[in-house]
Amino acid sequence: MCGIVGYIGNKKASPILIDGLLKLEYRGYDSAGISTMENGFISNMKDKGRVKNLYEIPGIDDLKGVVGIAHTRWATHGKPAKENSHPHMDNHNIFSVVHNGIIENYQELKEFLVQNGYHFLSQTDTEIIPNLIHYYYVKQDKCHDSLLKAVHLACNDLKGSYAIEVLCKDAPDTLIVARKDSPLVIGVGEDENYVSSDIPAILSYTKNFYLLNDGDFAKLSKHSISFYDVNLAPIEKELKSIEWDVSACEKDGYEDFMLKEIYEQPKSVRETIGSRLKKGEKVNFEDIGFTKETLQHFHKIYLVACGTAMHAGLAIKPMLEKLCHIDVIVDIASEFRYREPLIDDKTLCIYISQSGETADTIAALKLSKMKGAKTIAISNVIGSSITREADYTIYTHAGPEIAVASTKAYTSQITLLALLCLYFAEVLESVPYDVINTIKEELLLLPEKVSEVLKDSEQIKNFANKVYEEKDIFFLGRGTDYTVSQEASLKLKEISYIHSEAYAAGELKHGPIALIENGITVVGILTDPNLVEKSVSNLQEVITRGAKTLIITNQEINQTNYDEVITIPYTNPLISPILSIIPLQLFSYYISKEKGLDVDKPRNLAKSVTVE
Ligand code: AGP
Ligand code: GLU
Repeated sequence: MCGIVGYIGNKKASPILIDGLLKLEYRGYDSAGISTMENGFISNMKDKGRVKNLYEIPGIDDLKGVVGIAHTRWATHGKPAKENSHPHMDNHNIFSVVHNGIIENYQELKEFLVQNGYHFLSQTDTEIIPNLIHYYYVKQDKCHDSLLKAVHLACNDLKGSYAIEVLCKDAPDTLIVARKDSPLVIGVGEDENYVSSDIPAILSYTKNFYLLNDGDFAKLSKHSISFYDVNLAPIEKELKSIEWDVSACEKDGYEDFMLKEIYEQPKSVRETIGSRLKKGEKVNFEDIGFTKETLQHFHKIYLVACGTAMHAGLAIKPMLEKLCHIDVIVDIASEFRYREPLIDDKTLCIYISQSGETADTIAALKLSKMKGAKTIAISNVIGSSITREADYTIYTHAGPEIAVASTKAYTSQITLLALLCLYFAEVLESVPYDVINTIKEELLLLPEKVSEVLKDSEQIKNFANKVYEEKDIFFLGRGTDYTVSQEASLKLKEISYIHSEAYAAGELKHGPIALIENGITVVGILTDPNLVEKSVSNLQEVITRGAKTLIITNQEINQTNYDEVITIPYTNPLISPILSIIPLQLFSYYISKEKGLDVDKPRNLAKSVTVE
């Protein structure tokens, strides 16, 4: 987890570093720190708490160094505390290091270093890195590449994941970075270079980037960047230009990123559809290019992901099964990877990840590749780790998602999966063309319908303001409405800290109905004409027991039975989650606001979960 920023150039580094950290804070926010170098001396300033606390540290404004590294932490080893905050220095104050990831063999390396006279000030796994670099640095003969070689030797000893930046007081014009299983990008300026975990943090300085691969090292000066592979052999990299707008990474007048991202959904869904679907044409997945034979070869499809991305998989399973007549299994990546799943070369595994950096999803992908499955990655982040591992990659193009609670990525993931499903069905000729065509037409209408759902948020806001003090809230639905219940319940837990449960409406009477008591809030989602009557009966069961009800529907129902009914436009039930989730994203948002919570950075969470 965590965010890393680095700068080397002619400008004062500290404001650039702190500005970058503020933009990366969604990745981790329990402590922050910076190191800059000036007159052959490294200043290291850090503390627990939010990035803005850095401004309170005496002397931070006086740092004049033009090279520096910075970190916002999401603790894995050692509690959030000043001594555990990054940057960490070696015992001799020669090196300063920031690290994103986990060093799995840190105990073993720590013991080795202790035997060699080193001592430790923190409980982190990270602190072994500067000391290990020091260990190798003093052992070798000095040459112009001593620093790079020492970092390389130290990295060879590390097991686990890392993106690191290294400052060395003997090399004031150099910044060394390396990565394995944690993200890192390098931004190129004029007589200056930047480093970051993620593009948005430095997008206001440059639009030109190099992406590091696993095992890569880079040596930066203000004028140059040299890249090296895992064996320290020099390599070339292609400079990529990013088209994202800076304002796309800022709040644009919205109070929170989450609200902005909810309201961006007409645009993000439109961009996901992009050029893949045009009226009257076949769905375009030339980049995948499966033939009928290839698709017929697959006996089953796995959709594997975590959290909201996994819910996108659940939402699309009925459509894949119905249109492609193939078994679909949706699995949680952290379960899948440790379960010896039955997969072989007749399995298609689709991995869904907004960030493309989720450790469990990447590990699951690697496992299925080992077993011979074909893999497709669905990600929102260009060049992210998952996209480099998979056989095929398709991007959601939802634009940067900054709020920890995922909203627009979810609707874009379902949209893209629906397009992929239609493409498979077209290639397989598994259902009559008019079935495919009807859904294609509905998909093209979605951006407009999303706008319509967003037009009036007052009703949902008022209901949220009535129930924000509740202790438990239930979500019920059948079919795809049940999958939306699961996502709505996760959203509510994440940002409002209200306990909530999602149940298949028909399952309620098999136990959970015992929890329904007078005054409890139950949210019902009713968008599937074939299932609406059944769900209405289940809702009646909770109303009889005193529940307050909020209904999201596109059906003609007797509204007088319920406390609040939100009507949304009709679309095919197979893709209705793209519309029905939206009022429920707003519901969670307004509850969180009413409770005065930090919507964008909920407690204990981080945007990208790069640890197991
Ligand atoms: C979503 O609101 C959550 N923060 C979380 O469940 C998230 O969807 C999950 O961690 C997966 O992330 P990814 O899509 O980046 O892999
Ligand atoms: N494992 C390191 C720590 O706990 C780094 C965590 C992070 O990526 O923020 O300090």
